[in-house]
Amino acid sequence: MRLLVTGGAGFIGSNFCHYLVGQTDSEVTVLDKLTYAASRESLQGLPSERVSLVVGDICDADLVDRLVDEHDAVVHYAAESHNDNSLSDPSPFIQTNIVGTFTILEAVRKHGVRLHHVSTDEVYGDLELDDPDRFCETTPYNPSSPYSASKAGSDHLVRAWVRSFGVQATLSNCSNNYGPWQHVEKFIPRQITNVIDGRRPKLYGAGLNVRDWIHADDHSSAVWTILTKGEIGQTYLIGADGEQNNLEVIRMILTLMGQPDDAFDHVTDRAGHDLRYAIDSSRLRRELGWRPVYRDFASGLERTIAWYREHEDWWRGHKDSVESAYASKGQ
Ligand code: NAD
Ligand code: DAU
Repeated sequence: MRLLVTGGAGFIGSNFCHYLVGQTDSEVTVLDKLTYAASRESLQGLPSERVSLVVGDICDADLVDRLVDEHDAVVHYAAESHNDNSLSDPSPFIQTNIVGTFTILEAVRKHGVRLHHVSTDEVYGDLELDDPDRFCETTPYNPSSPYSASKAGSDHLVRAWVRSFGVQATLSNCSNNYGPWQHVEKFIPRQITNVIDGRRPKLYGAGLNVRDWIHADDHSSAVWTILTKGEIGQTYLIGADGEQNNLEVIRMILTLMGQPDDAFDHVTDRAGHDLRYAIDSSRLRRELGWRPVYRDFASGLERTIAWYREHEDWWRGHKDSVESAYASKGQ
């Protein structure tokens, strides 16, 4: 299969490219604008005869039209992805996540090309801590932040293009990913690299907010499963039963890194901070036979800590500017 992977130089997209090379015989073209969140190095080591990079914008209709026409399927990861940034400036989120997805939809419609649209569990809003229910495919949309609202908008566009124009698309909504090549602005890499640097980890508010962690490799295998076996027009939720509150995660990181588990700071909370995400992925498991490999969060976290220790060259250049920006907001 010749695949066009948008956002393939970002965190999850680059993990997907490594997965494709290791587990399938697909040929891959990455279309990526190389924003601050991307890095060419994340694709280093992949065979050039199977993976190539086109630097460009998913909002560039001519470029997208040409590339889509040359491929059998599009896996669409490209997005502005960080909630905190969307609170400071929503504009690029609207442009890339909504206009960019529209641009891709028009091209796959014109050329009859298969699309898998990658989205987030945040489109469903949040749950109470004691809610016995988890998000499932029929949970109503209720996004909280400019980021999650823009992703919800993109999902609605994909669903409408399937229904109105017969576009051959599937969708997935996944929970919080962790693993290699995640930007140091995000929670887990930020705290790991803080400890490496002798800075104290920073916990928003009381830290009781729950996220449902999944390793990026498991997200990749789920997307491949949906791309190859999923039913057109359907949505699949992806999760690995990894609920942890942020306080527990910071304590685990500190302990795994040989520090006292109270050596962190409480900082200003995120505006509109979602309380809890939790995914019921039983449809994906039951209908398509997918299973996560990383079932033990602590050992996945330990491997991730080792990766950041071994790849300081990869993240070092971003660290000081990320911390200065957070410090200016009291975070
Ligand atoms: P990321 O920010 O690490 O990477 C996004 C990539 O998209 C970057 O390489 C960036 O350069 C590229 N990009 C941004 N704007 C672009 C544009 N206009 N044209 C072309 N490329 C552009 O994000 P991520 O965490 O890897 O997330 C990837 C996708 O997965 C997103 O759609 C996100 O909503 C979704 N998702 C993420 C998570 C998570 O935990 N990180 C969970 C569920 C779903
Ligand atoms: O649920 C899927 C989503 O997960 C994806 O759609 C997003 O693209 C991805 O960024 C992630 O969103 P979150 O906002 O949950 O992730 P983030 O890493 O920013 O924060 C995780 C939690 O940790 C959240 O409750 C906020 C908190 N936090 C974050 C940072 C950066 C802290 O307590 N301290 C921090 O320094």
